[in-house]
Amino acid sequence: MTPDSFNYLAGLVKQRSGIVLTADKGYMLETRLAPMLRRDGIAGLDALALRLRAPGSTALAAEVVEALTTNESSFFRDGKPFEHLKKLLPKLAAARPAGHVIRIWSAACSSGQEAYSIAMTVAELGTAMAGKRVEILGTDLSREMLDRAQQAVFTQFEVQRGLPVQMLVRHFIQDGTRWRVKPELRAMARFQPFNLLDDPRSLGRFDIVFCRNVLIYFDAPTKSRVLATLAGLLPPDGVVYLGGAETVLGLTERLVPAAGERGVYEPARPAARSA
Ligand SMILES: C[S@@+](CC[C@H](N)C(=O)[O-])C[C@H]1O[C@@H](n2cnc3c(N)ncnc32)[C@H](O)[C@@H]1O
Repeated sequence: MTPDSFNYLAGLVKQRSGIVLTADKGYMLETRLAPMLRRDGIAGLDALALRLRAPGSTALAAEVVEALTTNESSFFRDGKPFEHLKKLLPKLAAARPAGHVIRIWSAACSSGQEAYSIAMTVAELGTAMAGKRVEILGTDLSREMLDRAQQAVFTQFEVQRGLPVQMLVRHFIQDGTRWRVKPELRAMARFQPFNLLDDPRSLGRFDIVFCRNVLIYFDAPTKSRVLATLAGLLPPDGVVYLGGAETVLGLTERLVPAAGERGVYEPARPAARSA
């Protein structure tokens, strides 16, 4: 692939998803895009770049971006955020008026493990939720992942990663070699496409946002923009969870780390922030 083709493909991916492809990602491009090239009879990445430059290539561009997303996920990933959520939810439920629906956003939900881990945490809390209803919205750029999340069916390998066996038995039904999320848990989550580069205000406000293991793929200005936007969706006692390798430090003053917690961020009090 010529440097010109690489720069064109990297520019297109960044513009459409925020994902930054550094010069050392040439090999990744080759391997991830190979099945698509074979299927469409495209000779190579230079030919693909040429096709993408032509008018009417929007669907192809979306496919390229989709192939370059990293969709790795697991149930109760990193553990700690879900332990924090378990303590936070009863407090939020008690602080909200009757009839309030607690809204939780899994903002790069991949195949749905994060959203269903949230749903299981809520279900396990039972009466501690003070009768408050919880609505979980899972969104992602990848249509393929959203389809999987919507199907709510996971392989033996997937349920073995991070999901305690008691929870597997309580919340899933075995279906051959696969495991299907029980309907009552499935009903707590809704999934729809959403690009984190877009304005999320159409999704409404949220009490809690999980935005984990996606900002790592973005450059600093994009991370700053996304984080500031997320802060704007939260009430003063709301929370944003980020991945273990992600932070708000140096990116926004609208969110601050929760005291003594890793990966948990709260809206800054207005007096505490200068911008
Ligand atoms: C590594 S997965 C993280 C899944 C889950 N949050 C977790 O921590 O297990 C990253 C997800 O971010 C999605 N993604 C990448 N860029 C995005 C964007 N601009 N808008 C929405 N989702 C995006 C990818 O499709 C992928 O499913």
